[in-house]
Amino acid sequence: MYFGVDYYPEHWPLDWLEKDLDNFVQLGANTLRIGEFAWHLMEPTPGKYDFSYFDRVIEEAAKRDFKIIFGTPTATFPAWLAYQSPEILSVDAFGHQRVFGGRRQYCYNSKIYELYASRFVQALVMHYADCKTIIAWQIDNEFGHEGSDDCYCPQCNLSWHGYLKKKYENIDSLNEDYGTVFWGQTYNGFEEIPMPTATITTHNPSLKLDWARFRSVSLNQFAIGQVDLVRDYKGEHQKVIHNFYGGFFERKYDQNVLAEMLDVVAYDNYPVWGGLRKPISPAHIAMTLDYNHGLKQQNFWIVEQLMGAQGHDVIGYRPRPGQGRLWSWQAMTRGCESLLYFRERTMTRGQEQYCQGLIDADNRNGEKYYEAAQFFKEAKEVAMNWKPLKPAKVAILYGYDNIRSWHEQPQSEAMDFTNEFMRFYEGFHQLNVPVDVLDLEKDFSEYQVVVLPVMQIMTPDLENRLKTFVKKGGVLLATFRCGIKDEHNNLKLGEVVPGGLTDLFGCEVFGYESLYEGLALEVKGSLGDGFVEVWRDLLQATTAEILLTYQDESYKNYAAATSHSYGEGTAIYIGAALSNSLVDALCHKICEASHIQMIHSPQGLEVVQREMNNGRLQRIVLNHTESPLEFEGQIISPYDVVFEECMPD
Ligand code: GAL
Ligand code: ZN
Repeated sequence: MYFGVDYYPEHWPLDWLEKDLDNFVQLGANTLRIGEFAWHLMEPTPGKYDFSYFDRVIEEAAKRDFKIIFGTPTATFPAWLAYQSPEILSVDAFGHQRVFGGRRQYCYNSKIYELYASRFVQALVMHYADCKTIIAWQIDNEFGHEGSDDCYCPQCNLSWHGYLKKKYENIDSLNEDYGTVFWGQTYNGFEEIPMPTATITTHNPSLKLDWARFRSVSLNQFAIGQVDLVRDYKGEHQKVIHNFYGGFFERKYDQNVLAEMLDVVAYDNYPVWGGLRKPISPAHIAMTLDYNHGLKQQNFWIVEQLMGAQGHDVIGYRPRPGQGRLWSWQAMTRGCESLLYFRERTMTRGQEQYCQGLIDADNRNGEKYYEAAQFFKEAKEVAMNWKPLKPAKVAILYGYDNIRSWHEQPQSEAMDFTNEFMRFYEGFHQLNVPVDVLDLEKDFSEYQVVVLPVMQIMTPDLENRLKTFVKKGGVLLATFRCGIKDEHNNLKLGEVVPGGLTDLFGCEVFGYESLYEGLALEVKGSLGDGFVEVWRDLLQATTAEILLTYQDESYKNYAAATSHSYGEGTAIYIGAALSNSLVDALCHKICEASHIQMIHSPQGLEVVQREMNNGRLQRIVLNHTESPLEFEGQIISPYDVVFEECMPD
């Protein structure tokens, strides 16, 4: 297990090095991440490599038995490169070229950039291939973050046409699949096809989906090229990792593709960032951790974990005493096995003066330093005894094409993909039921329950897998707009919704209505009374049982939710965004029927169970609130984490 800090020795006087390292030993750290923004330091002028600075840092670190994760510094290229080859700089959707000065503003399709990056990374990795202290290479930093997955430069235009030509082979099939007959947009050749930059009204939905796929492919091609390069030159003992970021559902970039090529997934865990007034919810944090676990379906590392407030120009909520430790433990319970804090000390110069380190600018070991020390001490004692996470019984599925499609056409002003994804995740989380978060390409056949939120893009392959899953005894829970679109992002002609799945769900969608922000409609039924928002499908049960019915005069004969026995299993269709009490009732009902263990706890108190090497179970109880909460007769202090051992049932 690696525990430590992100260390930027180049930010401080060199004669602080030894004292800093000693202080990290005191902290209980055994690992440092270094180097990931220091390209210029190692190649100050083109082709002139100088690794002496980090040689010295690594030598001192090794004396103290530290292990090192070295970041390939391609997220921040040297100014001389941008000056000499400005065509490497990416262009935004309004045609503005991003200037040197921020970071990650290079174009993934730039051959020149790839050349310089690869030349440097090769030299770096060769230099340290035999270094036993370096145990992993982190490729770049947070690919695609901060909007860097998009670029509309001339090189991207060319690559875009190449991508489409390869995919469609001839222009007639593209015209057919896009339906360019609409508004007379038929193309005579691939070179006529625009990138979706600013226009009047909006671009063709199939084109927009292809563009998002193209962006993801462009990024992954560059990233995987870097992974392959590092693999070619690194030492055998060195792993290849990359640090993924939160907010992944807001991006075009599909992280699953790169994750497959890595030895270990790493995650940068920031439950609060920038001006946020409060952290994202405990369930939302949990979902991001489960997502990262799901990328490779194996334990992951956190290489940036916050302890203090963060932000570039504006900061918001300050993590409360104990909350940094609490979030670290939350991550450990959900499959994190090594954790590094961002960063060792707040930088006093440059863009991140308000990204608080473990030590503040006053350079005294304070509250955050000691909290991290406490966590490292406990983690080494406690988490060492855990077996790796086992697959959960419930899985919730996402697919990037579907997410992209929702981003382009939200259909309701109240629609937000992540909110809809969280709706049922939250229901199970409240019952402390573990849920795996998986890309729909992963095998879900062994789960007991599969949740399919707002899966509007449905392929025949997915239809078949869902039917087989239910036929064999699985419980499927799908929510509104299921299966309305094909893989070209087009509605399905002549098909009743839920497209291709009416026999599975035993219901048909008669019509639909977008419910604007703030509009809530009453529903009633066996799940109780409540309301729905965002959207409603008006359902007619053919062979299904009705769970909820709309109450308004015009549509009181239509169902809002149905449940259907199919083969050995059950297929539940939820035609609208259900209010919390209804979600809770349904999750409860499903767990009860499927004999899935629920642990009842007050709101804000999270309970996770981990199997221990000694055959016993460890219960980790986490209080995410500012008030003391009671759990099974014990009072848990605000933001505290307690551990209990028990026998498995
Ligand atoms: C992360 C990034 C770090 C640093 C940090 C500040 O997203 O990887 O380099 O910028 O945010 O909170
Ligand atoms: Zn570009």
